[in-house]
Amino acid sequence: MANLDFSDRVVIVTGAGRGIGRAHALLLASRGASVVVGDLGARTDGSGVDGDDPAADVVSEINAAGGKAVASTGDVSTDEGADALVDAAVSSFGKLDAVINNAGIVRTAPFDEVPYEEYQRHLDVHYFGTLRVCRAAWPHLLESDAPRIVNTISQAMLGNPGMSHYGGSKGAVFGLTRNLALAGLDKGIKVNAIAPGAGTRMAEAAAETLSPEIMEYMRTSLLPEHVAPVAAYLVHPSCEVTGEVFNVAGGIVNRLALVNTVGIHDPRLSIETVAERFEQIMAITPEAAPQVVAPAHMPVS
Ligand SMILES: NC(=O)c1ccc[n+]([C@@H]2O[C@H](COP(=O)([O-])OP(=O)(O)OC[C@H]3O[C@@H](n4cnc5c(N)ncnc54)[C@H](O)[C@@H]3O)[C@@H](O)[C@H]2O)c1
Repeated sequence: MANLDFSDRVVIVTGAGRGIGRAHALLLASRGASVVVGDLGARTDGSGVDGDDPAADVVSEINAAGGKAVASTGDVSTDEGADALVDAAVSSFGKLDAVINNAGIVRTAPFDEVPYEEYQRHLDVHYFGTLRVCRAAWPHLLESDAPRIVNTISQAMLGNPGMSHYGGSKGAVFGLTRNLALAGLDKGIKVNAIAPGAGTRMAEAAAETLSPEIMEYMRTSLLPEHVAPVAAYLVHPSCEVTGEVFNVAGGIVNRLALVNTVGIHDPRLSIETVAERFEQIMAITPEAAPQVVAPAHMPVS
């Protein structure tokens, strides 16, 4: 297959100063995209900034390699930060085609010890940050010939030790992704999500919830560069899928599908019917239908 070209694409990547977002930005720029590198320089737990400027570093790296990029150092959890990202795209490159919402924070703690402020902070960055950037970008995406949004969720939304606040906020981003996919359906805006795994600074911060063997495997075998090709493909005009989620780590890519089981239908439903037919309700049979926003655009083989 010929290399996929991004030379007419303008893409915002949030949290692109480090880790997975940096890999997205470098890959897209190496294929010709004009990239807005968004990064606040936040501490891993979101408790403040460290005083460095990782967005500027990545822009320098891209420019030195002959690519096109500008930095935006706003906080995605504020209207000003979200607007600044979009303004940077439009004022520097004249348009906006795609957004990769990747900025994220984490701190692990047992459920009953997490203060409400921590839940709010995770929601502010992940859910409201994604929402604000999408809202600011939406009018410009409507002008694009192939508008795309990729959000970043996590397997932690399905349950991870010490991550009720983080996982819950990522679950909110999943719900937002599905609803934006629906909102964009008749406008051509494709909205998908990835659930990545990579041995980044964030993974190190969550190390206490993982075994030493898994941590070592993440450091050596799950690289941010393994995640970027999927995000890049999802923002390419040739990729038309929407409302989907992909697990991506270390070269593994699979679809996270929600299925409705065939279950039962009994208008005279009683507690006992539920108890008696519970196995049937639970059974994932070949007829179990994936819950999709739009029919698959690609043949399943
Ligand atoms: N690393 C993993 O295994 C893993 C697993 C599941 C999900 N994720 C998700 O992938 C994304 C990237 O994670 P990473 O591992 O590369 O982490 P990272 O800490 O290396 O990078 C995250 C970047 O986001 C930036 N950021 C944080 N809050 C911000 C804000 N309010 N505004 C602007 N920028 C902000 C940080 O400054 C940082 O550079 C996150 O959304 C994370 O939740 C990562």
